[in-house]
Amino acid sequence: MILALNWKMQLLPSQAGPWAERLAELSSNWPAGLELALFAPFTHLSALAAALRGSRVALGAQDLSAEQFGAHTGDVAAEMLADLGCSQVLVGHSERRSEHAESDRLIGRKLARARSAGLLPLLCLGEPWEVRQRGGQLEYSLAQLEAALEVAGEGPLRLAYEPVWAIGTGKSCHPEDAAQVSLALKRRLPGAAVLYGGSVNAANLAQFLRPELDGALVGGASLKLEQVAEMAALCG
Ligand code: 13P
Repeated sequence: MILALNWKMQLLPSQAGPWAERLAELSSNWPAGLELALFAPFTHLSALAAALRGSRVALGAQDLSAEQFGAHTGDVAAEMLADLGCSQVLVGHSERRSEHAESDRLIGRKLARARSAGLLPLLCLGEPWEVRQRGGQLEYSLAQLEAALEVAGEGPLRLAYEPVWAIGTGKSCHPEDAAQVSLALKRRLPGAAVLYGGSVNAANLAQFLRPELDGALVGGASLKLEQVAEMAALCG
């Protein structure tokens, strides 16, 4: 089971190290089959890499540039993340798609860049509410996956099914619906791990621990260590 924590744009860099040291300490007693990853803002990664070194928690960034080294002011290259100690990276989170107008093509290029630097990409997919209302969630998520693969080709990849309407709303997806989307994604990409994300917390995680899903990508609840510890305990 994979428990992936997405801090989004929260906490200060000075708070990140002590938080992660505690996480590393606590996690040594968590279930052996649990895989942990923490996705943090660029500014926090250096402190987190130091705090998590030698622990079981993988470190990841929340985005990366689609470009190689060069004149790209404000961008961060995949190799920079790898050099800092990241082993994973989120790609195509719905907040990147909506707030930064990231296209499927750009997301495909980011996927390819991540892979070429040895980072494992966690591609986020999921439909808006209008699509869900007409029952188009399978086709929508599959089309997002297809569009990214068309650019990036085959290779190491994890997926997170995060329906846009379930993110930060307290209204999580019905576990059966998440399972159906996961199965469809796995049919297209056999062997790929598929996480569910969208208002997951310690109170509802158990519903998503089912054979069709490989874990959860947690936003808001990932900021509270007690919540993380409770969720980890459920993953035994
Ligand atoms: P919430 O858990 O806050 O709904 O966020 C989910 C998410 O977007 C994780 O990437």
